[in-house]
Amino acid sequence: MIININLNKRIDDSYNIYIGNLDRLTFDMKVAIVTNKTIAALHLEKLRSLIVAPEIGEAIIEDGEQHKNLATIGAILDRLCDLRLDRKSLLIAFGGGVIGDMTGFCAAIYQRGVSFIQIPTTLLAMVDASAGGKTGVNNDYGKNLIGAFNQPKSVHIDTKWLTSLPRREFNSGAAEIVKMAATLDREFFERLESANLSDERELIAAIAQSIHLKADIVMRDEKESGARAALNYGHTFGHAIEKESGYGAYLHGECVAMGMIMANRLAEALELIREKEAQRIERALERFGLSARYKTPNPEAFYDLLFLDKKTRDNKITFALPRSIGGYSLVSDIPKELVISAIAKGGE
Ligand SMILES: NC(=O)c1ccc[n+]([C@@H]2O[C@H](COP(=O)([O-])OP(=O)(O)OC[C@H]3O[C@@H](n4cnc5c(N)ncnc54)[C@H](O)[C@@H]3O)[C@@H](O)[C@H]2O)c1
Ligand SMILES: [Zn+2]
Repeated sequence: MIININLNKRIDDSYNIYIGNLDRLTFDMKVAIVTNKTIAALHLEKLRSLIVAPEIGEAIIEDGEQHKNLATIGAILDRLCDLRLDRKSLLIAFGGGVIGDMTGFCAAIYQRGVSFIQIPTTLLAMVDASAGGKTGVNNDYGKNLIGAFNQPKSVHIDTKWLTSLPRREFNSGAAEIVKMAATLDREFFERLESANLSDERELIAAIAQSIHLKADIVMRDEKESGARAALNYGHTFGHAIEKESGYGAYLHGECVAMGMIMANRLAEALELIREKEAQRIERALERFGLSARYKTPNPEAFYDLLFLDKKTRDNKITFALPRSIGGYSLVSDIPKELVISAIAKGGE
């Protein structure tokens, strides 16, 4: 016997990303702002003054990637119960990628799902983490291994929050901008080569173009079966750098930038990109203070780390590599010696 449950699902998951001055947000349900202590001290009062809602609660957690785990999720969920949030309530993720990923995950599971919106406060979250619906936490086995796809109801990007962001964090976000431009949009890349992101207008233009590129990819491939993998340029190597150097030694964007350099060496070996073009990408990174190279003590052991990435399927790694500037190739089955040589050369 076969019994079919046909749910006739036609859910509209589409949402808007607003870029510009956030001056008022009005809700007719209870809301809870999820943020961390650092951001709360800097900006929570301001955000609260912009929100109109029947009740505004807060869940404030410790700052840091090391708190992006299930224990913190448990603490946030308890707090939401304390606040008596119901299924109609709304969560507001107010912070960087760590807060966004955890709030989105809580929204997926609190009372089997409530809505959430994103108000990103780091450049990285503005251009990358806040849109696309990947949510979750780390555990002892690796990064982002526990989570859910859960799209926000809206994303509100306002560069006013960035005035307090440390320069190193800002540059880490710029790595993701260069990543997208270098593999998806040659003209944008060329503009970035001379852009001044300290200029408000140029910064907003770069954020908007990055979101366009990410949105376009996510619309084509929400759950990463194809095109979305292009966004992994620098990440397969970058995640191994994060792991080998011990989480926290470098910022995520710094690891991605160092990973992009290894990926470039691999792309050169496969004749996907000319040396001169690879150098242009590396100069673009240098403009954002991202000139460091990562020298692994042991390329063989580093190679093995690549297989721990959750993007590795059936023990096969697919590398997202630049094809010239503004294009990408997804390449699997690359001989081990070539990869190891790129790992070593990327550290020179
Ligand atoms: N979901 C996705 O698609 C996606 C994509 C990329 C990265 N991520 C995740 O995002 C995380 C990294 O995000 P991140 O780089 O934003 O790090 P983060 O959230 O840890 O923020 C970086 C630091 O800046 C502080 N901060 C945030 N806003 C500030 C402000 N306006 N002024 C001063 N300080 C501020 C934070 O408290 C933190 O100390 C990682 O966990 C990564 O896995 C997710
Ligand atoms: Zn990234």
